[in-house]
Amino acid sequence: MHFMTNDELKTKFIEIFGYKEEGKDVYYNEKLRVFAAPGRVNLIGEHTDYNGGYVFPAALKMNTVVVARARKDRIIRLAATDLEERVTASLDNLEEYKNLKWGNYQLGVADQLQKHGYKIPGCDMLFHSTIPFGAGLSSSASIEVATALTLATLGLELFNDSCEDTCIGANENTSVNRGIDLIQLALISQKAENQYVGVNCGIMDQFASAMGKADHAILLNARDLSYKLVPLKLEDCKIVITNTNKKRGLADSKYNERRKECEEGLKYLNEAFPNARYLCDIDYEEYKKKEYLIKDEVIRKRVEHVLSENNRVLKSVEVLEKGNLDEFGKLMCESHASLRDLYEVTGIELDTLVNEALKIKGVLGSRMTGAGFGGCTVSIVKENAIDEFIEVVGRNYYDKIGLKASFYISEIGDGAAEL
Ligand code: GLA
Repeated sequence: MHFMTNDELKTKFIEIFGYKEEGKDVYYNEKLRVFAAPGRVNLIGEHTDYNGGYVFPAALKMNTVVVARARKDRIIRLAATDLEERVTASLDNLEEYKNLKWGNYQLGVADQLQKHGYKIPGCDMLFHSTIPFGAGLSSSASIEVATALTLATLGLELFNDSCEDTCIGANENTSVNRGIDLIQLALISQKAENQYVGVNCGIMDQFASAMGKADHAILLNARDLSYKLVPLKLEDCKIVITNTNKKRGLADSKYNERRKECEEGLKYLNEAFPNARYLCDIDYEEYKKKEYLIKDEVIRKRVEHVLSENNRVLKSVEVLEKGNLDEFGKLMCESHASLRDLYEVTGIELDTLVNEALKIKGVLGSRMTGAGFGGCTVSIVKENAIDEFIEVVGRNYYDKIGLKASFYISEIGDGAAEL
């Protein structure tokens, strides 16, 4: 979707919600505030987060922007620049809106914020996103995190002005109020998605959206949320994201199914590793000695993917820190093969994009990114090969699949902030 300036968005906000409500004193003040949270691309480490493993995502410059004005009456009104739909809800009975087609991410977050003890005001909110929806680039996490930051910030200012805690997680480039804990907001956003939206996702997307830093990727240990920002030095290469533009039909149910398979795998392995709470608590080499304990062949494949992928993340960071992009590219390709053959979450569209990408000289690596079953691939491409990449991969994909791919040369941006 196209970019809109803050001023354009504020004008739109007034068009939709008006300056004031006739004869009523609903607003604390007239001021419109603007917050944003980005989408993410995961460079490597897929389906490891909910197994207590490592992931390596980066925040994108594509984001969700929210224009907001706090209300005194505990009413939330939601609108989006690309939708006719409007939602009006009360902060006092948020459970009622669980089945909304649009608006449930935002209301789920408001609900979870309150359940975690945050005092939040009613609010008029206009959403504008430049992240393609349903493409596996975390458009939903960005809506959740942007909502969480908006409501938490306004609530803190209105009801808890004396809070002196330091801000956890904001990096020096972003503007986040003191007293706001971005990591907790990421966890709250994840919980909203788990409980309100019904997708049992891990923490990667919300964490990357909240905590990203320009030109860095985040090595995140999803088990304890310790993390390290790793500078992305790509020399003469760029990150190219390619969208299959395939609708992700069964993605959510398949995702939950994979999670269950991992839990089953862990049960088998607990016989030899009684203290392991997550699959990734088990070392890959140790696992190999005990893999016979897993009687079901499908489950064994799933576990093999998770534990080998977890190792690939650490290896990737190691080689990237040494500036060895070729080696990183190879690990990306191994990751894709593992997701295709062992975890079985790719599909013909993603596989075709990766195969076609790898035929082009100047492509160091290519793999699916995100949950899979459609969505996007991420490729590391030499700058002078990008035009050819877009033309040839686009053409061959269309010839084979009959869909038009979209391409984004992605820049790595900052995490959630007030603009
Ligand atoms: C989705 C989920 C993440 C993660 C990825 C797969 O993006 O939201 O938590 O599990 O899939 O790596």
